[in-house]
Amino acid sequence: MSWPTAHSIKALNGFQVPCNVERYYTIAKANQLLDIDFEESFFVLGQGTNTLFIEENIKSNILHMLETGINILDENDKEVYLEVKAGNSWPEFVEWTLYQNFYGLENLSLIPGSVGACPVQNIGAYGVEVMDLIHEVKGFSIPQGRFISIAHDACEFTYRNSIFKGKLKGKFIITSVVFRLNKTFSPNISYQPLRDYFKDSSGFTAQDLAQAVIEIRQSKLPNHKEIYNCGSFFQNPIVSKDKLNQMIDRYPEMPVYAFGDQYKLSAGYLIESCGLKGFTLGNVSTYHKQALVITHNGLGNGREIYEFSEYIIREVEKKFGVKLHREVNVVGNV
Ligand code: EPU
Repeated sequence: MSWPTAHSIKALNGFQVPCNVERYYTIAKANQLLDIDFEESFFVLGQGTNTLFIEENIKSNILHMLETGINILDENDKEVYLEVKAGNSWPEFVEWTLYQNFYGLENLSLIPGSVGACPVQNIGAYGVEVMDLIHEVKGFSIPQGRFISIAHDACEFTYRNSIFKGKLKGKFIITSVVFRLNKTFSPNISYQPLRDYFKDSSGFTAQDLAQAVIEIRQSKLPNHKEIYNCGSFFQNPIVSKDKLNQMIDRYPEMPVYAFGDQYKLSAGYLIESCGLKGFTLGNVSTYHKQALVITHNGLGNGREIYEFSEYIIREVEKKFGVKLHREVNVVGNV
C-alpha cells in the first residue's frame, strides 16, 4: 500500500486542468482496497480521459487504479474469455487483441482511457459498443465489503450508460473486466464512413479495419496529449418522434439515427448549427473539426470549462429546445 500523499493530478486528467488532491492512493493490487476507509468520500481514477475536475483542491481520497495484466480464463475454437485488469490502457489492450487474432474490438481502437473505465459509460464508436463484448465485470462491493462479479445482463448497459454510473455509483470499484472475443473476424462496417473507406476493397483484415478507424478518428478528433480534451463532451440527445417531427421540418438535413422507438440526434450538428463549432471563450473552445469535443489550451481551469459547457447547453436549448447532457464525468461541487 502506498501512503496517501498530497498530489497534483494535472497530468492525470484529459483536460490537464490544475487539481490537487489531499489523499492519493495508487492501487497496484486489488486487495489494497480492503484497507481503504470507504466512510470517507473517494473518487476512482483511471486515466482521467473522461473526467472534468472543477475544483482545484479535492479533499476526497483518490484511488488511482494501476493494476495491469491479462489472463486467458477459457477458450474454445470460436471464442476466448479474457480477464483484463482495470489499470490496463484501453488502446494498448485493443492493439494486443489484434496481434493475438482475437476479434471484436477493432472499431474501438485508439479510444483513450483505461480498461476499468470502459464499462462505466459503455464506450462506443463506429457501430460497436463495448457492452457487445463484455462477459462480466469484477470488482469490490463497498456495501458487501468483498469482491464480487457482475454478469453482463446485470450491468444495465445502454447508450453511454450502465449500472456503474447509476445504482452502483460510489458503491462498486471495478478491478477487472472479462471480455468474450471471437476467433474469427466478422467486420462491422455499419458506420457510413467505414463503408466508404472499404467500398473498393474485396477483402480486408482486422488490422485494416483498425487502421481505418484510427485514420477516421485522427481526422476528426484531437489527440488529448497535444490538444487537451476528453472526447465527446456531451451525449447525443435522444428525442421522441413528436419532437423529431417538429425539428425535421426546419432542419431537414439534420442527421437522425433510430434508437428503439425514439431518435438519436447528433449533438455535434446541433452545436455547429448554433454557430459554435471552433468557438472560443477564454481558454476553452469547441474543436474546429468536431463541435462535440471541448478543448482546453492548458491555461484555464476546470470551472472555466464547466461554465463554457453550460453556455453551449443554453444556446442549443434556446435554438432547438433540446437539452444536452454531459457525457464527461464532472467531479466537484457545481
Ligand atoms: N456533425 C456535425 N458537426 C459536428 C460534428 C458532427 O454536423 O461538429 C455530424 C456529422 O457530420 C455526422 C453526425 O454529426 O453526420 C455524427 O458525427 P460523428 O460520426 O463524428 O459522430 P458523433 O455522433 O458526433 C459519436 C460518439 C463518438 C464516436 C463517434 C463515431 C457520442 C457522444 N460520441 O460521435 O464517441 O467516436 O460517434 O462512432 O456518442 C466519445 O464518446 O468520446 C466519442 C468520441
